[in-house]
Parts: sequence; C-alpha cells; structure tokens
Amino acid sequence: MKKDIILVLLIVLHLFFFVSIFAISPNSEIKPQTIDTQSSTLTTSSTTTTTTSSPTTTPLDIKQQQLKQNIIDSNNNNKIKEEEKEKSKNVYVTFADNAEYLKGIVALRMSMINTKCNYGLIVFVTKQVEQQDREPLQLLDCDVREIEMVDIPKEVSVQIDRWRPAFTKFRAWQLVEYERVIWLDSDMLLLKSLDHLFDLVDIGNPKLLYAAIDADANSCVFNSDRLKLINSGIMLLSPSIDVYNLLIDGMVVVSKLPNQSTVNDQDVINTTLPHWRSLSYPEYGVQITHCECTSEPRLWNFTNTYFLHFTAGLKELPKPWSLLKKSQNEAKDIFKQMPTCIEQIYLNWINTYKEALDFIENKLNLVNLVK
Ligand SMILES: *[C@@H]1O[C@H](CO)[C@@H](O)[C@H](O)[C@H]1NC(C)=O
Ligand SMILES: *[C@@H]1O[C@H](CO)[C@@H](O)[C@H](O)[C@H]1NC(C)=O
Ligand SMILES: *[C@@H]1O[C@H](CO)[C@@H](O)[C@H](O)[C@H]1NC(C)=O
Repeated sequence: MKKDIILVLLIVLHLFFFVSIFAISPNSEIKPQTIDTQSSTLTTSSTTTTTTSSPTTTPLDIKQQQLKQNIIDSNNNNKIKEEEKEKSKNVYVTFADNAEYLKGIVALRMSMINTKCNYGLIVFVTKQVEQQDREPLQLLDCDVREIEMVDIPKEVSVQIDRWRPAFTKFRAWQLVEYERVIWLDSDMLLLKSLDHLFDLVDIGNPKLLYAAIDADANSCVFNSDRLKLINSGIMLLSPSIDVYNLLIDGMVVVSKLPNQSTVNDQDVINTTLPHWRSLSYPEYGVQITHCECTSEPRLWNFTNTYFLHFTAGLKELPKPWSLLKKSQNEAKDIFKQMPTCIEQIYLNWINTYKEALDFIENKLNLVNLVK
C-alpha cells in the first residue's frame, strides 16, 4: 500500500514537471485549436479562453464522468466482458524505444480517444524505456508491452543498424492472438477514427498488406510514380508467424540485391509483400508539408484527411515533442520560415498533448476518489 502511494506521488510530481515545461507556445495565449473541417486549412478557434491552464473543462468533465462510470462498472459486468471479447480481435499497435517518442504516443492515444476509436492500443517499448515514462500511457489505458528489437540476421552484410528500431514493426505480425492489426507510427495524430479500416483486412490472406503511399513531401506537383512507393507509417495486416519469418528472411534477400548500401524496413516490406495495396491519398498518410498545396486536392484535401503524419521532408521539420523543450522565441524561429498551416498543425499536436496530461491528472484524482 505504501508503495502504491509513493508511486502515485511520483507520477503526480512527474506530471507537474511536464506541465511546468509547457510555457513554450509561439503565441503566449494558446487557444484550443479546432479544426474547421469545411475549409482546407486549420483555423484557430474563436473561443475566448484567456488562460492556458485548463482550456477544455467541459469535455474533460464528461470524460471524467465516463471514467468514473467505467471504473465502477468494471468490477463485475459480464456484458462489458462479452463486448471486450469481440473487440479483442482488432488492435492498434505502435512502438517507441525512448521517452521522447513516448510523448508522441501520448498525443496519438489522446487523438484516438477524441476521435472515439473503439479498439485498444498496444505500445511496444524496449527495456531502455523507464517504468516512470510508461506510466502515462498505462493511465491512458494502453497495453504497454516490453519487447526486444528484431535481431539482424548474420547473413546481412550491409550496414543497417540505423534502421534497427524500424524493423520492430515486423513484430506486429507476431500478435497472433489478434485477427486484425493496424500499425501506426508514434508521430501521428488522428483527426477521425480509423476503426473502419479494420474491415479491409483479409484474415484468410495474411500476405495481403495495406499501407500508405510515400508521396513526395517536398513538392506540390502530383507525381503518379510516387503511388508505387510504400510508406509503412500505417499498415493494416493480419498477424502471421509465417509472414513474420518471411520478413526476417527478406532482410537478407534485400541486402544481397545489387548496389544495396543499406536496407530499411520499407524496402523489405515492399520486396517481401510485393502485392501490398495502397491506401488512398491524402485521406490516409498525408505528408504535413502538403498543407501548402491547397490547389492540388490530390495532395491536400483536409475535409477528407483522417490523420496527420509528422514526417520531416526537406524542410527538416522537427518532431512535435521536441517543441515542448523550446522557449517561445526558439519556437517562433523554427516556424518563421514555414507556412502558417504547418505552425497550426504543430499547435494542434501540442494542444492534444496537453489535453492528454489533463486527462491523466483527472484519472489519477478519480482513482484516488474511488479507493
Ligand atoms: C551499380 O553501381 C555501379 C557503379 O555505381 C553502376 O555502374 C551500375 O550500373 C549499378 N548497377 C545497378 C544494377 O544499379
Ligand atoms: C517496390 O517493388 C516494386 C516491384 O514490386 C519495384 O518496382 C519498386 O521499385 C520497389 N520500390 C522500392 C522503394 O523498393
Ligand atoms: C475533398 O473531399 C471531399 C470529401 O470526400 C469531397 O467532397 C470534395 O470534392 C474534395 N475536394 C476536392 C477539391 O476535390
């Protein structure tokens, strides 16, 4: 019991620390961002909130009530158990090997809650990730699982250590206790639920993969050749040990292709599962730099965009969580050279992350109340 109390205190202190490093917005009065789904740009809400501490009291209150209800219900309710059983065939999965990327998953998970995704999120972590850094995700009801990175087969002669963390996504095929899995990278933010995508997965055909395409992040010119390139940031798959083994062997196969200087996860997936199907763009997998391309709806149609993927492109955009440590002026400098739409997308991420911290704090308070 004493241990529990100490643990809870530690978490609260930890959260205060996070909250205190938040005075970083380029605009000192961060207003809650809402997304105007009618237009092709992100707009700042006209809500007249002037404080930054608790911007969204009402939705959080509702969530608090729901949480309380869930905690009470979960004691003994068979109906929920039946539903859970059905739900448990589908799952989202993501991965982080350090505390920074875990912040990405905190925001990702909050966006899943906000968009009412009905399926759980498994978070693969390596043993380097400290228990205290896993705690926020556990409080957001994630299933945090420690895994080891995939071993590189000895036959691979080229240098591929740089990609080793990325190969961890092959472990999604090992989740055979599930029928359908959606892999999401940690640097994503959902704008709408992706639950409907589970229906695409053909459980009788585990070699059939759906993935995003790798559109050219650095240009507003639509290039149909890019439709052939895979982006493994999102993948819809049916777990299978056979396919997992094929992918591991695929690392060797690709490393032996002529002129291969390195091997990344996308090369291996593309070569091993050549009949992968692409998800439509920009609905699924949009490059955030394309927010400038409003006159090319094949690259940017915000009404129709399900999630944002914070990839760098040639603009070398920072990962959104790195902004949490920046001063106001540093953040201003980063965005000075960029279109406003990119800044707004980053503000949206920051607000979602803050909302997650509020959510966690409320949950801790409730857990203590119910005890
Ligand atoms: C491999 O690289 C060499 C020298 O860079 C080049 O001449 C050759 O055409 C390349 N082969 C293939 C298959 O790309
Ligand atoms: C993916 O595989 C196809 C053939 O299936 C090939 O034409 C294409 O160049 C490959 N792309 C990459 C990035 O390896
Ligand atoms: C954007 O997507 C919406 C929803 O599918 C569609 O109705 C609209 O026509 C698209 N806009 C353009 C410019 O293609």
